[in-house]
Amino acid sequence: MFLAALPAWGGQQLQRCLSCHPAHYADRGTCSHCHRGNPASERKNIAHTGLRAGEFVRFTLGDPAQKKEGEHLMEQLACRRCHITAGRGNALASNLDGAAARKTAKEIVLSIRQPVATMPKFGLDDERITILINMIFAGSEGRGVEKAAPVKVHFNNSGNKSEDIFSKKCGSCHRIVTGHLGALGSGDIGPNLSGLLSPYYPKTFKNRENWTSHNLGDWLKNPRAIQIWTRMQPVLLTEKEMAELVAIFPVSTEPAQ
Ligand code: HEC
Ligand code: HEC
Ligand code: HEC
Ligand code: HEC
Repeated sequence: MFLAALPAWGGQQLQRCLSCHPAHYADRGTCSHCHRGNPASERKNIAHTGLRAGEFVRFTLGDPAQKKEGEHLMEQLACRRCHITAGRGNALASNLDGAAARKTAKEIVLSIRQPVATMPKFGLDDERITILINMIFAGSEGRGVEKAAPVKVHFNNSGNKSEDIFSKKCGSCHRIVTGHLGALGSGDIGPNLSGLLSPYYPKTFKNRENWTSHNLGDWLKNPRAIQIWTRMQPVLLTEKEMAELVAIFPVSTEPAQ
């Protein structure tokens, strides 16, 4: 493979990576196009700054089956009920397109494996985490690091905790990350309801419908009428309380895709 030693990309920046590594996928781009790192240095620690190992850049090969698997997993876990990734989702937690630009793959792996208290613990194996990292990196390609709305820090509020309707009526069994009140609730008996009324929450209402303020009202009145085996008991709210509750959920105006 004598060709491996020749830089195949005429005018492009010299890839000093080649002083230590053989070329591969040379017809698809430069080393740093896929792996990042700093191609101008022959010193390993500098050359490897921000390096993305092969497993995290599989998406660069453009395998459609793999892409589909990644999209399916992302939808199933509904990361977008809290995060924007590939430009879509609720902005309740940090923008993952920005995180992809700022953080190393290892740091991102760690945030999923050992999430902060307000992010669900998904308990994913390494392979599925790798699939998600590929999705996050793929989704951030070609997007500027948006200096969008500052992300709120979501520590559990302690001060006015029992004041809001969610903490009072739902928080013993559910958790939620909200845009304006931070993280509410402390219960893990029921699912995390972040982004419930947005298109990014799993379609778990009957007949695979999205949750709306209307069907949430029906659910609270009598969960068993919707899902016969459900463990949730009815929660009776006044009209005013219902309006307060609905206002806590972000309602995204973007269409789900
Ligand atoms: C001075 C030699 C040297 C240079 C220059 C260098 N590497 Fe490496 N690279 C290594 C060695 C040695 C390893 C084996 C693992 C280790 O020691 O970090 C490695 C490992 C890797 C890995 C696997 C990382 C992992 O976590 O499994 C990738 C990908 C990689 N290099 C890509 C690059 C790219 C891209 C460049 C240029 C931007 C580059 N390397 C420049 C020596 C180098
Ligand atoms: C089109 C994207 C692409 C390009 C260009 C590319 N790589 Fe890779 N590289 C990958 C993928 C994906 C893997 C994972 C294994 C595989 O699928 O072959 C990988 C694997 C590796 C590995 C094995 C260790 C690991 O992290 O898996 C090294 C080392 C490596 N690449 C270095 C380089 C260097 C040096 C260059 C430039 C000569 C380069 N790559 C160019 C996508 C690319
Ligand atoms: C219930 C809301 C929620 C869900 C669902 C959620 N996260 Fe998070 N995530 C958070 C919060 C809160 C943080 C920490 C604070 C922040 O980044 O805003 C966080 C942090 C992260 C970070 C670190 C970001 C950074 O800037 O350092 C990554 C990466 C991440 N989440 C990935 C995921 C992935 C992948 C999924 C889907 C499998 C997911 N999250 C689902 C709430 C959520
Ligand atoms: C005493 C505990 C408890 C309280 C209080 C409670 N829930 Fe639940 N909720 C649950 C449990 C457990 C489930 C899981 C139902 C099942 O599948 O068995 C659930 C499920 C749900 C679901 C269905 C979510 C899905 O994806 O399937 C919604 C929506 C919901 N609750 C909303 C609320 C709201 C809003 C409140 C407050 C007004 C509330 N719940 C209060 C225990 C509770």
